[in-house]
Amino acid sequence: MPLEGVKNIVLVLSGKGGVGKSSVTLQLALALSLQGKSVGILDIDLTGPSIPRLVGLEDAKITQSPNGWLPVPVHDAAPQSDSSPARGSLRCMSLGFLLRDRGDAVIWRGPKKTAMIRQFLSDVSWGETDYLLIDTPPGTSDEHIALAEQLLTLSTADAATAAQTNVPRLYGAVLVTTPQAVATSDVRKEANFCVKTSIPVLGVIENMSGYACPCCGEVSNLFSSGGGEVMAQQLGILFMGKVPVDVKFGELVEGKMEDSDEEDEEDKEQKEQPGAPEEPDLRPLVEKYKEGWSYPRFEEFAKTLLGGVESTAGAS
Ligand SMILES: Nc1ncnc2c1ncn2[C@@H]1O[C@H](COP(=O)(O)OP(=O)(O)OP(=O)(O)O)[C@@H](O)[C@H]1O
Ligand SMILES: [Mg+2]
Repeated sequence: MPLEGVKNIVLVLSGKGGVGKSSVTLQLALALSLQGKSVGILDIDLTGPSIPRLVGLEDAKITQSPNGWLPVPVHDAAPQSDSSPARGSLRCMSLGFLLRDRGDAVIWRGPKKTAMIRQFLSDVSWGETDYLLIDTPPGTSDEHIALAEQLLTLSTADAATAAQTNVPRLYGAVLVTTPQAVATSDVRKEANFCVKTSIPVLGVIENMSGYACPCCGEVSNLFSSGGGEVMAQQLGILFMGKVPVDVKFGELVEGKMEDSDEEDEEDKEQKEQPGAPEEPDLRPLVEKYKEGWSYPRFEEFAKTLLGGVESTAGAS
């Protein structure tokens, strides 16, 4: 059965490119896994898949099992310890894993895109997964329409039906915007798309809203802030909160490629001090993420999602 073992599905949508859908998807996934949930990320951005890069697994390859493609592990589940609560696993699936070279251009016509989305939704063997987060391309294109159509046949937005059957619950969509009006007006279109396709809107996250100081985490507003909040109010949608530009998060996910070449002289000198050898930090991404400024915000978003699922599960 397609999506067998998946309990809840959450889409991450935005009308505009580059507002942080993939980063928000990843951070929600990490935060949900830190709440002890098993999580999967399905990246259906066929022309610009970015999840493999963000999780630092660009060279990973997909393997086949008798039940379908196996998603790539990002981290395993970990039991509760003295210092931290139990952690759920995180796995992901992306077209990026299937491309030979990440520079490969993918130029596909509509029908082929639709077929690929169908295959992605049907042929991945997720196993027990509490939350499947779907990272989407910008806009309301062929991919979105194919995704919505296919999801509505493979899952149900009705909590009671999902609770009584083994069909995954299509919990809804998180909309991502930046504060600027041009981005928020595109998100309105996305909210409209959800209404038309009967996908519940869970809330709005305003990303890149202000700037978090890398030293102390204090947030200053370089540009405007609050556009997403106003839009959410106008549309009667839950405003989940603001996420400032977090340079350290950027470095955590994007810094891997260029790593040491970009160190400045002062850094190098400090590292060369005797007694202070630089050990590579080999901990999984989730453990490093936990220490950043953005985590507490995403922890709140994850709790909001979990609270909503639990309060409506089995409701008739
Ligand atoms: N809050 C943030 N703080 C720092 N960097 C961020 C933040 N949000 C996003 N970024 C960075 O901005 C860039 C674009 O983000 P991302 O790839 O998540 O956007 P997207 O909406 O998925 O883009 P696309 O439309 O191309 O899929 C990335 O380099 C990402 O690391
Ligand atoms: Mg993206």
